Amino acid sequence: MSKAAPQLRLDRLLANLGYGSRREVQGLVHAGLVVLDGETLEDADQRVAVTADLSDRMTVRGRRLDPPPGMVLMLNKPLGVTCSHKEAGPLIYGLLPERWRRRDPAISTVGRLDKDTSGLILMTDDGGLLHRIISPKSHVPKRYLATLARPLAGTEAAIFASGTLMLEGEDKPLQPAELEVIGPTSAFVTVHEGRYHQVRRMFAAVGNHVEALHRERIGSLALPEDLEPGQYRILGAAEIAAILAPR
Ligand code: URA
Repeated sequence: MSKAAPQLRLDRLLANLGYGSRREVQGLVHAGLVVLDGETLEDADQRVAVTADLSDRMTVRGRRLDPPPGMVLMLNKPLGVTCSHKEAGPLIYGLLPERWRRRDPAISTVGRLDKDTSGLILMTDDGGLLHRIISPKSHVPKRYLATLARPLAGTEAAIFASGTLMLEGEDKPLQPAELEVIGPTSAFVTVHEGRYHQVRRMFAAVGNHVEALHRERIGSLALPEDLEPGQYRILGAAEIAAILAPR
């Protein structure tokens, strides 16, 4: 049986989506600027069923409602952007609409990519889903394209697959990872955990150096070719399921 949609007071829903304080969003409602299924809503206290399709049915100031809570988006992270709420320099949250920074629950990245790594990153306000994806128990595979400073020696695939590779400063070996050679200095690497700077440190452990790193897949979800760096897209239910689906 599918779960009933949660009900929220209209002013609470809009305030939680960052449209303003409770008082400000009450002003929006009383000004006739909130419309549901073609009807202007007049009562800010009324309860609204927060269904997944609410953005298709509700407008605020004539524009589609922002995605309701439970949203997941994929973003093509550009180089030079940090996955943090508070560090100096350009932050990943700056790539999203300004209003989304005031959402409650807040949107967070699902794990992190280094400032110098590009590619697929997920963001969500669903804490449960976030933990299921990043939990070591889930073993969600993450596939990267690594460009290396020096030619591959030919032994890396076996070393990465061994389940015995130890990263500097750690006392637990890495889980087996897969390496697929593309050229003398480029390879796909698929890892099933998310240790700090993992791929860069794996190549450092075999005497090489990663010059460029790009994540192109999480689970069965691939970064679409037409999603330009800095662009994002809200995921549908099937795409969200693909993240955690066994391959
Ligand atoms: N491994 C790294 O070294 N960096 C990343 O950003 C992701 C995986």
